[in-house]
Amino acid sequence: MNFELDEELAMVRDMARDFAIQELDPRASKHDRQGFIDQEVFGQIADLGLWGLTIPEAYGGAGMGNTELSLVLEEINRADASVGVTLSVHNSLLGTPILKFGSEAKKDEWLPKLATGEAIGCYCLTEPNAGSDAAAVQTRAVRDGDDWIISGTKIWVTNGGLASIAIVYARTDPDVSKAKGLSAFLVPLDAPGVVLGAPEKKTGIRASSTLEIQFDGVRVDGDSLIGVEGQGFQIAMDTLDGGRIGIASQAVGIGRACLEASIKYAGEREQFGRPIGHFQAIQWKIADMSTRIDAARLLTWRAAQLRDKGERCSLQAAQAKLAASTACNFAADECLQIHGGAGYTDDFQVERLFRDARITEIYEGATDIQRIVIARSVMA
Ligand code: CAA
Repeated sequence: MNFELDEELAMVRDMARDFAIQELDPRASKHDRQGFIDQEVFGQIADLGLWGLTIPEAYGGAGMGNTELSLVLEEINRADASVGVTLSVHNSLLGTPILKFGSEAKKDEWLPKLATGEAIGCYCLTEPNAGSDAAAVQTRAVRDGDDWIISGTKIWVTNGGLASIAIVYARTDPDVSKAKGLSAFLVPLDAPGVVLGAPEKKTGIRASSTLEIQFDGVRVDGDSLIGVEGQGFQIAMDTLDGGRIGIASQAVGIGRACLEASIKYAGEREQFGRPIGHFQAIQWKIADMSTRIDAARLLTWRAAQLRDKGERCSLQAAQAKLAASTACNFAADECLQIHGGAGYTDDFQVERLFRDARITEIYEGATDIQRIVIARSVMA
């Protein structure tokens, strides 16, 4: 057992940390206000090889795993959670299922473009009537010769406005039970019949792209089926095991930003003749924040390492996401409290952190869903 990063992992973390400090810290508030990420940042992410972090070298990626991705995502989200979720979804929700379940032809076609950021990916599972109950998907895919025709509406699609390619979950057999009737498809978003909705106006992660996508009789070739017919729900859930590690890493990153801001402010702000950090009430808040964030990070690393070994990690990923998202929101709340009135204005980054933190308890499976996954596993 080893809780230290080896030299290689520390180098990856330091590379992401330097990038976050130099390029993202100065831009994060601007990104939040303008509602999109500066184009320049996309190029910098490409230069660092982060779009293809988990894509094998044979396809032009860095050939790393979930452990490295987790380290990178913590650093990037510590600075800018909008950039963090864009990168997390691209790597874990699109690149990974193509790699694991896609045909050789589709891997050759898409992975090199995804590795460089020439193409960005998105994941289309959620629908108006299929949120937490993901198996209730109503989007249909019907065979037409060798092709498939896809029709339906997907909502809350992260990266929707940036992506060239989506993985779309659709019902191929309406006669079998909910989960078993779903299949997964790769759909280029420039295909006729794809209609993008307006960007959602979100509480937090405002610079990330989120929108509805309609698939209006979209034709894809037979090779676009990912895995086999009827395997879609399992692919969706397996993919989310990885995605949840990404969001846990995001939550650890935002939580760490809250902790660091709190320590700084507690040293600067004076009341009753001394810095507020001298008061036990503030010290205890900071002690609790630090402990919960460290615990969440260790759970996240454990889940990432398990997934890198090729083992199923649904329980560990759900535990990591539950612990990290609750630690993150606890830290954001305490951080704002420590900052008092100043934290309630946009003069400090605290109010952005508070808004960004909230989504970690909602997307890629709400906190309540993580508890279902955990309870089913430990009580089985
Ligand atoms: N890996 C592989 N297979 C899995 C699996 C996994 N992690 N989890 C479940 N399965 C399999 C099961 O073994 C089962 O197979 P069998 O029938 O052969 O036994 C099948 O899938 C059905 O599983 P369940 O009975 O557990 O399915 P359920 O309908 O009870 O749903 C759930 C379980 C956990 C509630 C699931 O619906 C869920 O996770 N819901 C939340 C959805 C979600 O996270 N959405 C996120 C959207 S994407 C997003 O948010 C991205 C973003 O914007 C950033």
